[in-house]
Amino acid sequence: MKLWGGRFTADTDKLAEHFHSSISFDKRLYREDIEGSLAHAKMLGDCGIISQEDAEKIREGLRAVRAAIEAGEVQFDESAEDIHMNVEMLLTEKIGDVGKRLHTARSRNDQVALDLRMWLRREIKETQELIRSLVDALVHKAGEHLHTLMPGFTHLQKAQPISFAHHLLAYVQMFERDYDRLADCLVRMNYCPLGSGALAGTGFAIDRDETAQELGFTAPMANSLDGVSDRDFALEFLADASICMMHLSRFCEEIILWNSGEFGFVTMDDAYSTGSSIMPQKKNPDMAELIRGKTGRVYGDLVAMLTMMKSLPLAYNKDMQEDKESVFDAVDTLKGCIIVFIPMMQTMRVNADKMAADLEGGYLNATDLADYLAAKGLPFRSAHAVSGRLVQYAEQSGRKLTELTLEEMRRESPLFEEDIYQVIAPAQCLAARKTFGGPAPEAVETALKAAQDWLAARA
Ligand code: ARG
Repeated sequence: MKLWGGRFTADTDKLAEHFHSSISFDKRLYREDIEGSLAHAKMLGDCGIISQEDAEKIREGLRAVRAAIEAGEVQFDESAEDIHMNVEMLLTEKIGDVGKRLHTARSRNDQVALDLRMWLRREIKETQELIRSLVDALVHKAGEHLHTLMPGFTHLQKAQPISFAHHLLAYVQMFERDYDRLADCLVRMNYCPLGSGALAGTGFAIDRDETAQELGFTAPMANSLDGVSDRDFALEFLADASICMMHLSRFCEEIILWNSGEFGFVTMDDAYSTGSSIMPQKKNPDMAELIRGKTGRVYGDLVAMLTMMKSLPLAYNKDMQEDKESVFDAVDTLKGCIIVFIPMMQTMRVNADKMAADLEGGYLNATDLADYLAAKGLPFRSAHAVSGRLVQYAEQSGRKLTELTLEEMRRESPLFEEDIYQVIAPAQCLAARKTFGGPAPEAVETALKAAQDWLAARA
C-alpha cells in the first residue's frame, strides 16, 4: 500500500513504478532527509502541533533509522518510490503509528527542495576545500619557478618571454575565482524551503524560523511557491562547476601540449600516464585528456537542468525529480577531476632547459627591441616598424636579433647603442616587466604573497 494510496483503487503498473521511482539515486540524500525530519518533528512538538512525547519518539525513531541505514541493514524499497517515503516507512515500521504524524504540515515538495539544498551545501564546502588544496599546490610549484623562463603564447605562436611561475599563477587566479564563486552561491542558496508545503504553505501554526535556524539556514524562503519550485541554487552550482571544469580543461590541454615530444616542456610522471596496447613506445597523458573530456559532461548536466526547468509552470512538477542526477554527477565529476589533477600536476617534471631553448627562435624579444627605441623617444608605431624590419632582415640570414651587429641595427635607427644586447636578452625581457600583474620575478613574488594571503584567509 502506497503512503498516498487513499484515493486509489488499483496498483501502479510495475513498469510505471520502476520508471518513476527515484530511490536508486536519491538514497544519497538519506542523511539530509533525516536531519530535516528531525528538525521538523522538533518544531511540531515545540509548537504544540503534535505532543512533545510524540515528537521525541519520532526523533528517536529517525535516529534509529539513520543508524540502520549506516550499518547497511536497510534494503530500500522501489515501490516506496523515493528516499522520503522510504524513510517514513522505515520509521513507522520501527515506532508504529506515531511515525505517521511526522508528515504533518509538510509535503515531499518542500522536503525534497530542502534535502537537495542541504546536500549540495555540504558538497560545495568539500569542493571548495579541494579547490583550495589545488591553489595551494599551484602556489608551491610556482614558488620553485620564478626564474624558469618559458615562451608565452598568443594564437599558439610564441609571443613574449614569461616565467613558468607566472603561467601557473594565472590558473591560481582562475581557481580563486571558482572558490569565491561557490562561496557566493552558498550565501544565496542558504534559505530554507521547509514550510512551503506542497505549494501554498500550511494552515498549521508552524515556526519556520525555528527549522531554518536549526538546520543552519540564514532564514526561511520568503514565498511558498518559490520555495518548492526554485532550483536556481542547483543551476548556479552547475554553472560554477562548468566554469571550474573549463579552467581545468584548459590547463589539461596545455599540459597535454607541453608533454608532447614537440614541446617537451614537461614530462608526466609514470603514475599519471598510460601505455598503448599496440605501440610499445607510447606514454600517453590520459588523465589530463580524461579531465578535459569530462568537462563536456558537466556542461551537459547544466544544460540538462536548464532545459528541464525552462517551461515548468509553478509550482512543483515531477520533471524536477530529474534535478538530482545532474547535480550528483557534476559534484562527483568535479571533485574526482580535482583529486586526480593535483598530484598529476605536482609530479610532472618541468624541463626548464627545453623551455629556455624554445625562447631562442621566434623573435620573442622583438617587442622589447621596439620598446627600447620608444623609450628613447621614437614614437612606438615607428619603433614597431623598425623592429619588424630587423626581424625580417635577421630571418633572411637565419639569425636571432641578438646576432645582428650594432652597425646592422643602426642602419634602421641611429638610436641603437651597445646596451641593446643586454635589453633584449630573455632574462632581461622578463625582469623589465615588473609592473603589477607582470611576469618579472619581483612582480611574481608580490603575486605569490597575495596568493598566500588568499589561502590564509580561507584556511
Ligand atoms: N522524488 C520526488 C522528487 O525527487 C519527490 C517529490 C515528489 N513530489 C510529488 N508531488 N510527486 O522530486
